[in-house]
Amino acid sequence: MNSGAEKSILITGCSSGIGRCVAEGLRADGYRVFATARRAESVAELQAAGFESLQLDLTDSDSIQKAVGAILIRSGGQLYALFNNGAYGLPGAVEDLSRAALRAQFETNVFGWQELTNLLIPVMRTQGYGRIIQNSSVLGIVALPFRGAYNASKFALEGLSDTLRLELRGTDIHVTLIEPGPILSHFRDNALNALKHHINIEASVHRDKYRAVLARLNQQGPAVPFTLPPEAVLKCVRHALTTHRPRARYRVTVPTKIFAILRRMLSTRMLDRLLVKASDQSKR
Ligand SMILES: NC(=O)c1ccc[n+]([C@@H]2O[C@H](COP(=O)([O-])OP(=O)(O)OC[C@H]3O[C@@H](n4cnc5c(N)ncnc54)[C@H](OP(=O)(O)O)[C@@H]3O)[C@@H](O)[C@H]2O)c1
Repeated sequence: MNSGAEKSILITGCSSGIGRCVAEGLRADGYRVFATARRAESVAELQAAGFESLQLDLTDSDSIQKAVGAILIRSGGQLYALFNNGAYGLPGAVEDLSRAALRAQFETNVFGWQELTNLLIPVMRTQGYGRIIQNSSVLGIVALPFRGAYNASKFALEGLSDTLRLELRGTDIHVTLIEPGPILSHFRDNALNALKHHINIEASVHRDKYRAVLARLNQQGPAVPFTLPPEAVLKCVRHALTTHRPRARYRVTVPTKIFAILRRMLSTRMLDRLLVKASDQSKR
């Protein structure tokens, strides 16, 4: 199984950003791409662009099961790879996170991903091979202030992925984490919407900081230094799909590479100082 032509992949969150870019790139390589999206209008748009697209909302078990069932019927019960990607970031101080807000963040970014993965592992076990590629983040490596919910979701993803990799040792099913830093996408717009929806800014002791966050998230155009286009992630996905032994982790962008090293080298206190500085400069 070396050429893209014989392989199929399910991708979540293909309406924009990294998911859309990876769907397009892999289709061009000859993969059979099942490009899923949360909203019906995104599915229609993807279909109009020639994709085999199905609705898959990660907060909804029924939607996940229906999408998997339909895809497996079309693919004759086989699937080479899964790219877990669809997610959003909820900015906000940890003390302002309601149970509902934190739960919503985990429903999409963690529980939905694991439910989908667990439906596909038996398929991969039966066929004897598979690739599970998890789109994590630099925020799955280090924490930043006002990113607690998202940080926690990506730390959870890292833990589940590391465990799963150990449990699948000895099989030909490979679990790979991709850890991007800032990537051009709709992420910031969607984070702004999540913030407005879930955080009671005026009631918060942090309201002045939120106003700064709102100004930052409202800014247009490329912002954070070292931001890369989504093709940087596509490159890693391609490698993880084609190489005999995919890496456990692909670190994308300079900030991810630097923080992965610093986290191992520095004391927590020193790392905290740097992270606060990075957060002040960051516009994401
Ligand atoms: N951009 C970055 O700087 C960056 C950095 C590190 C990691 N990442 C990770 O990259 C992945 C993709 O994000 P992106 O940067 O491409 O942002 P994006 O442009 O906002 O794309 C996010 C995608 O996730 C989808 N999604 C949200 N909630 C969903 C749900 N309940 N079910 C299914 N899909 C859902 C969105 O669909 P809708 O359009 O319907 O909302 C959209 O298609 C995420 O896992 C993110 O954590 C991004």
